[in-house]
Amino acid sequence: MPVVRGETGGLTLGGLDLGSVVRDPALGTPTYVYDLDGIADGARALESAFAGVPHRVAYAVKANSAAPIVRVLSGAGFGADVVSGAELSLALGCGIPADAILFSGVAKTDAEIDAAIAAGARGIAAIQVESLEELPRIAARARALSVGRPARISLRVNPSVDLETMQTHTHIATGHDDAKFGVPKSDVHAALSIALASPELSLAGLSTHVGSQLTSTRSYLDAARALFELVGELRPTIGDSLRFVDTGGGFGIDYGDGCPVSPADFIRETRALQTAMGLSDLALYVEPGRALVAAHGVLLACVLQHKVSPPGPPAAARQRWLMIDAGMNDLLRPALYQARHRVVGLDGPLPSADDLPWRVVGPVCESSDDFGAHLLPGSPPQAVAILDAGAYGYTMASRYNGRPLPAEVFVSRGRVVASRPRQGADDWTRDRLSLGA
Ligand code: LLP
Repeated sequence: MPVVRGETGGLTLGGLDLGSVVRDPALGTPTYVYDLDGIADGARALESAFAGVPHRVAYAVKANSAAPIVRVLSGAGFGADVVSGAELSLALGCGIPADAILFSGVAKTDAEIDAAIAAGARGIAAIQVESLEELPRIAARARALSVGRPARISLRVNPSVDLETMQTHTHIATGHDDAKFGVPKSDVHAALSIALASPELSLAGLSTHVGSQLTSTRSYLDAARALFELVGELRPTIGDSLRFVDTGGGFGIDYGDGCPVSPADFIRETRALQTAMGLSDLALYVEPGRALVAAHGVLLACVLQHKVSPPGPPAAARQRWLMIDAGMNDLLRPALYQARHRVVGLDGPLPSADDLPWRVVGPVCESSDDFGAHLLPGSPPQAVAILDAGAYGYTMASRYNGRPLPAEVFVSRGRVVASRPRQGADDWTRDRLSLGA
């Protein structure tokens, strides 16, 4: 369940009073809090959308790689989509079977390819090949490792969808002609020839990923159609090794401006298209990240101070700044993608229509360290929650400005079941000083 305001005005997440986290001296702020039960409920809802269709949900670990969360999704029967050797080890460590893992990424190291080939008894579900040039590299690594079975691969096709129609930030649009991702459609026949001529490789699937935070199914289905057309055309040549089509992640969420489609809508419409195009015997793989975790996490921050700038020409309005102790190093999305996350007070009166917006900013020495203007009471709260921060929050955090990484708290049945304090600023100082020649 997302954040709820209780009768006494306090905020709860997953039944836990968020004020109790802020007051806990062992945790303090900035702190991410996640509702594991909400994540499990969302996973079940997504799973039921498949309604008996052969499928695999490969959770995109990059959205949130905390073990308690990955374990919940592993427990729901999900596989993983990973993009590094470290994420591969993490997924395996959280109990995801090797043959339920996809490895994506345009630039894998030899060590990462080796780990993917060697994992488990049969290797991973597929190494997602993103260029013609990658194929001989994987074949050579498989030969060198001589594991006695071919390495399973999937060709990740760039579906060449029009960027203009994607309605998402250009930084997170991937399936268009100017993106580094995927095998261009014009190279797919050549890629197939190389794959089929390499006994070290077994082509298990064809995949695509058009972009992230999609608030309509249109571009997703355009990409799926482009993929399914290719699969229909190439299938007689590929033969029996082909097991799945993978239409990627990207299901959007409501950050406050609405999102009329649910993850289940993406699944139902994609499956209907797959069936209409005569491919219903192939399993449908999807790779959602954000939609599984974003709404079930918040970032808590304390208000350090405020300041009111004098009105100055040409702007008539005073700027009312609310300085909090979380910054762009803790949650990068607003600075990197001009993303807006709702900011709500944890205590004090509720905002009224007469209140003026506060510009909520962090301590980092960058003008882009700015969470935007939010309606909060004139007498500001002492602590705030930044909502929908469960995806691409902690995983993109950094130590910029010598700041510690934020704390994390995991909640189930209204109780804290795991937590990790902030990494103290002292660690950073020691590390930097240790480089002295
Ligand atoms: N599969 C592939 C191959 C991907 O590249 C991605 C995301 C996903 C799946 C999962 O997409 P999702 O379901 O989470 O939209 N940091 C950005 C998002 C970057 C997404 C990168 N790739 C943000 O904070 O909005």
